Amino acid sequence: MKNILRKSWLGYIGLGIAGTALIIVAVMPLTSAIVEGWLNSDVELRARLVFRSIRDQVIVGLAAAPAVDLVPFFERLTEDERILALGYCTAAGELRYATKFMPKTISCAKLERGKVDTSATVTDGDRPTHISVFPITAGPVSGHLLLLHDLQFVTRRVHEVRLYTALGLIGVALGLGLLAAVITRTLLRHWSLSVRSAIADVRRGAIPDPYRDRPTAIGSEIHALLSEFRVDRRYVDGIHVEWSPKTLHRLLEEELPGVEILVVSNREPYIHNKTDGGVLLQTPASGLVAAIEPVMRACGGTWIAHGSGSADRQTVDENDRIAVPPDAPAYTLRRVWLSAEEQNGYYYGLSNEGLWPLCHVAFVRPAFREEDWIQYQAVNERFADAVVQEAKQDDPIVLVQDYHFALLPRMIRQRLPKATIITFWHIPWANSETFGIFPWREQLIDGLLGSTILGFHTRFHCNNFIEAIDRFMESRIDRETATVTFRGHDTMIRAYPISIEWPPAALAEQRPVRECRDAVRQRFSLPPDTRIAVGIERFDYTKGIIDRIRAIDDLLTWKPQWRGKFVFIQAAAPTRGELEAYSTLQAEAMHLAEEVNARHSVDGFAPIRLVVRHHEPREVYELFRAADVCVVSSLHDGMNLVAKEFVASRDDEQGVLVLSSFAGASRELSEALIINPYHTRNMAKAILTALSMPAGEQRQRMRLMRSLVQERNVHRWAAQMLLDASRLRKRERVLGTG
Ligand code: G6P
Repeated sequence: MKNILRKSWLGYIGLGIAGTALIIVAVMPLTSAIVEGWLNSDVELRARLVFRSIRDQVIVGLAAAPAVDLVPFFERLTEDERILALGYCTAAGELRYATKFMPKTISCAKLERGKVDTSATVTDGDRPTHISVFPITAGPVSGHLLLLHDLQFVTRRVHEVRLYTALGLIGVALGLGLLAAVITRTLLRHWSLSVRSAIADVRRGAIPDPYRDRPTAIGSEIHALLSEFRVDRRYVDGIHVEWSPKTLHRLLEEELPGVEILVVSNREPYIHNKTDGGVLLQTPASGLVAAIEPVMRACGGTWIAHGSGSADRQTVDENDRIAVPPDAPAYTLRRVWLSAEEQNGYYYGLSNEGLWPLCHVAFVRPAFREEDWIQYQAVNERFADAVVQEAKQDDPIVLVQDYHFALLPRMIRQRLPKATIITFWHIPWANSETFGIFPWREQLIDGLLGSTILGFHTRFHCNNFIEAIDRFMESRIDRETATVTFRGHDTMIRAYPISIEWPPAALAEQRPVRECRDAVRQRFSLPPDTRIAVGIERFDYTKGIIDRIRAIDDLLTWKPQWRGKFVFIQAAAPTRGELEAYSTLQAEAMHLAEEVNARHSVDGFAPIRLVVRHHEPREVYELFRAADVCVVSSLHDGMNLVAKEFVASRDDEQGVLVLSSFAGASRELSEALIINPYHTRNMAKAILTALSMPAGEQRQRMRLMRSLVQERNVHRWAAQMLLDASRLRKRERVLGTG
């Protein structure tokens, strides 16, 4: 602001000088002409006055006989400093009685000598001279009196006038410039105060008041602009922002400039498998991957994961890295190789036979084996080393994913104390009675409390976790801020409901709904008017696939008129098949499907179509779009993204979602038909209601769910965690605790 004032001050002085110079140049000739005119007429008047006062004496002198010498008389008159010379021209044109300074160039013959007074201005050498010629006629006397005035004083006066005028003008200009500068300074000070108060208001978050009296209009404008800017920055608070890769990217640039993002998960986003036809690229059936992959595409960085594909090793570089997505690289995938022993203990054993059934209330008994725990710890260590290898900064943001890496946050904290560690637990967290049976519960919680932020899908799961800490650990719990202090370090426990990208990438390649339906009908040899229900997920016992088949059995027994008119397509991706609980379930489900088909088939039309294979997102979305009903009957689920994907796939606003109340998604998608999957008739009824729901009602429900999924998409999920991380990093920097 001071600079602005100094600049304007100097500017005004410069302008003043230039303006004054211009005025002087313009005014001077006029001033000179006026002053010259005045002085000349003054001289004429003076000459006349002198002539009148001496006329009689001159006549007496000329008429006297003998003639009197008038020279001494004339010389006396020339003692007046302005009268240069006097002389007398006879009627014959002879110059007599000329005083001594009469210029030699003056001759009576050249002068105009009439009956009236005449005057002229001549220059003798460089002296300007005014000549007045007065006729004298009295008796015998007839001639003309010459009176010459020296006009040099006129030139002097004009110069003086010029000088004083210029000085006067300069004085006025300086005065005005000074006045203008004082006024400007006062105005700018006012303006600056106004701008500052506008900025302060907006900073405080005061509501912009258009009627508020502000010192200057500019102040009001700036206030309005800043308020707009604040509105633009509302994403910082996550209010009414359309989250997209672009806004997420902007958030990173503005809130976490230059930060390095590392993701750690067991499942990798791109798997290369050897097939007879060469190397096949696969995207796994994993809610975690479906959610994190679009975020990484938007943020860039490095994703560290287990390289589980049979062709994974041959597709990485010498540092086990590969740029992905392969067709448009946006981030780096760093693969970590695990031995069969590690894989068995850490992945199949502790993670999927221990923690998975422990956290899901699906009534499958968890198995806890010492050797699995040892492998689990060792693999967590290996990933911690990989994080250190990949980190280019000492304070990256590390996003640790899921129950495979409960010990990793503490291990990273030990290796990179300045890192911001955001851990997300993608599955439910059991209540403390249930969790309490875990043999290494203290170590597990200790590991997780190495995180800066620990996220769950729902508040309920956060509360369960806090209860477990309360029960099993010595720590300080601040329930108001949901912060746990353990080993002198704070961990924020927060709910971040996960979601999918909007619009989903797989939707772009979809054909219109009618064509999807035709394609599916053709593929499954269905008559044109068949009503279709679908279920699409991993073949996991937590998904309630058997319960779903039972509900359909019940429906067709209860309402046999639907036989031959209704089909249920279950796409089940093989998963964790090495584990007994899975192979048992898969065999049981296939057996049950056969039984139900045998019971309710009409003319070879089987009501259950169980397709056990991996489905790529394109096929999944086609099935969703072909369906009248989508059944998500999880016995227990952290969130369940299939429910959200179904909603996202239906841009025709048709289709009904039947959703388990035990899936986290039911907290958000309350316009679905919410069911208890353990209650077979309840589910059968819901499917029936869905099949007969009018199109208008379907639209109303679908519209509400779609707007929710659109608004609370996965970019918002990531943004909320990153914003919390950014606030903590800033706070640590300010308090010097980082
Ligand atoms: C759940 C877990 C994920 C896991 C996915 C697939 O969604 O939360 O961590 O990736 O299941 O399971 P899988 O064992 O095949 O990775």
